[in-house]
Amino acid sequence: MSALPQPSGSHSDIFDEIDELRRKRNAVILAHYYQEPDIQDLADFIGDSLQLAKAARDTTADVILFCGVHFMAEGAKILNPERIVLIPDMNAGCSLADAAPAKRVAAWKAEHPGSVLVSYINCSAGVKAVSDIICTSSNSERVIASIPEDKKILFCPDRNLGRWLMRRTGRDMELWPGTCIVHETFSEQKLVKLKVRHPDAKVVAHPECEENLLRYADFVGSTSQILKYATTTTDADTFIVGTEPGILHQMQKAAPDRTFLPLPGMDETCACNECPHMRLNTLEKIRDALRDLHPRIEMPEDLRLAALKPLQRMMDLG
Ligand code: 13P
Ligand code: SF4
Repeated sequence: MSALPQPSGSHSDIFDEIDELRRKRNAVILAHYYQEPDIQDLADFIGDSLQLAKAARDTTADVILFCGVHFMAEGAKILNPERIVLIPDMNAGCSLADAAPAKRVAAWKAEHPGSVLVSYINCSAGVKAVSDIICTSSNSERVIASIPEDKKILFCPDRNLGRWLMRRTGRDMELWPGTCIVHETFSEQKLVKLKVRHPDAKVVAHPECEENLLRYADFVGSTSQILKYATTTTDADTFIVGTEPGILHQMQKAAPDRTFLPLPGMDETCACNECPHMRLNTLEKIRDALRDLHPRIEMPEDLRLAALKPLQRMMDLG
């Protein structure tokens, strides 16, 4: 496990408390790139959804504290049921997962016998349980390529990722009408203004963005893929970033001489480009969760086993 980094400013007491509890509980702290910088700095592992799922599956720690949203922590429990899985705030949901109630998705699938239901990992265990295979934004093209050409594909719950995949793979798919409340808020007008002010900047975007925004993107990928491109490509040194701005923390750390410009939302008066679910997690809640071993992810074993099947199918693709 990595040594705790130096705390920034006034948080040193709580950093120490968390570190002591982490040792006492033999816990691993996993964090998504959309967490606030302090949380990223104290994590043992930071990654995109797929990387975090693999880290959760492979850990031998007794406790997994998942600093992300509910479907991510639930995925950790599905993959590694022997561990105690904690989430700092049980209310940290996801608009995509909320857009797809399991019963309605099951009914949709039943209306299309013989089709293959591909679900984005941003969904509940109940939706996973009725899916044929899961994908994340980093492996979605590979997952679609694994499905025989003659099979009809149903894609759920992210309409924008689905549309992007249809363009990338040339496969026709029926799409569930879910969207991410963060990525749908980005403004095309503000993107164009930034482009005018920074004509040499490259635009990087997450495939959860609306189609009109993705048209401007020089690179589209998962959070880790965007991070890698923007910090290593020699094509530019300024980047307009079309995803949740939490990721700028790792970008600035990896490439301090580059300029990363977060794409604002349409409404100037709110920080709508920040995920309100991800940002529910705080240092205090992390400390309390490790101290109390609560809030804890639990689920019935039959649901876990049913949800594991399509997740495992994805993992088996490599
Ligand atoms: P990544 O798998 O790209 O990290 O995406 C997770 C997510 O929720 C994006 O909004
Ligand atoms: Fe869900 Fe969007 Fe937040 Fe990602 S950014 S967790 S897709 S609401």
